Order: sequence, then structure tokens, then C-alpha cells
Amino acid sequence: MREIRFVSTNTEKFREAAAILRPHGIRLRWVRREIPEPQAWTLEEVVKAKLDAVQDLPGPVLVEDSGLFIPSLKGFPGVYSKHFFKLWGFPPLLELLRRRGRHAYFKTVAGLRLGRRRVYFSGVVQGTIARRPRGRGGFGYDPLFIPRGHSRSFAELSSEEKNGLSHRARALRKLGRHEKEALQVEVTRDEMSLDVA
Ligand code: IMP
Repeated sequence: MREIRFVSTNTEKFREAAAILRPHGIRLRWVRREIPEPQAWTLEEVVKAKLDAVQDLPGPVLVEDSGLFIPSLKGFPGVYSKHFFKLWGFPPLLELLRRRGRHAYFKTVAGLRLGRRRVYFSGVVQGTIARRPRGRGGFGYDPLFIPRGHSRSFAELSSEEKNGLSHRARALRKLGRHEKEALQVEVTRDEMSLDVA
């Protein structure tokens, strides 16, 4: 198993990320650290800044940032999802959406630092905002988000069901495949140098 440090203060995120990456032969080691988020327009910028802030940690390091984007609100709360949720919770969002389109998507950007190299992966899941919070599972905006093709919210799905289709799973599965291919290249290189020797 390959070990990667995952920096976050969010227990649920860590649990989800660890379960998603385990089948890819990656074991996440949780570094519970608050990283100040810069004011930025995109998740990509936030993730780059987060990677800058964890340069002191040894070995491969993974950070991620996620947001709920609502096109009828010009993408709001988007990169501000965390602050908005902390300050206001669901009510103003439901109020704003009373006469607007309810299409929404979740997006995750994951950034992995491997020595001096950095690689980024993104994942998106489309859906709609429920008329009222539904379900007790998950975290954050999960009770409001109904993924496309489903009738239940993320908070009404089991963690396995959510991890089967979530934004986080889509980004991290790309990372898992990337790491597997990188490992295969390393093994092939080793075999080649054995052949040459
Ligand atoms: P951040 O990625 O920690 O900045 O989180 C942004 C906001 O989106 C926080 O309020 C999280 O609770 C919320 N959030 C992030 N991922 C999810 C998710 O998978 N489901 C529901 N809410 C999420």
C-alpha cells in the first residue's frame, strides 16, 4: 500500500477520500490541519495555495477543495461554499431558489504533491437542489443535493452509494488511476535497467 498524507480538518472528507482510494492501493494518513483559504475565484487557485501551505510535510501530500455551484445564482456559493454554509446554512439558499432554476453541481479539485511535481484532478457531479433538506447522512450540503438520475439526496444515500458517484470520487479515482500508471512506468523502468545491467 502506498501512503499519502491528506491534509484537512474535515473528518467526513477524510473518511470518504480514504474509502475511495483504498481500492487503488493508496492508504491515506490524516494530517488534521487548518489551512487558511485565500480569496479566489476558482477551486484550482485555492488548491494551489493549499499545496503551498503544506510544503513542510514530507512525502506525497494530498489536499482538496470542493464547492456547490448553482448556475441560476451565477455559480454561487461555489468557492465560497464553506463560508456561506458556516454563516447561513440552508435557508437563504432555499429562499433564493424559490423562483430560480434548481440545477446545481458539486465540483472537487484535488492536488497531489509528489516531490517537486504537482498534479491536479477534478471531478464533477450534476444534480438539482431539493425543496427542503432531506436525509441524515453525509455532511455539508448533502441533504440539499439530488444527483442526476436519482430521487434521493446525497444524505439519503449510503456512503458506498455516494462514493460511487460523487464529485470527490470522480476526482480521486482519476488520481488513483494516475498513480497506478505512474507505478507501472516505474516498474517497467526498473525492469529495463535490470535488463541492461
Ligand atoms: P471545502 O472544500 O472544505 O472548502 O468545503 C466547501 C463547503 O462545501 C463546505 O461547507 C463543505 O461542507 C461543503 N462540501 C464539500 N464537499 C461536500 C460534499 O461532498 N457534500 C456536501 N457538502 C460538501
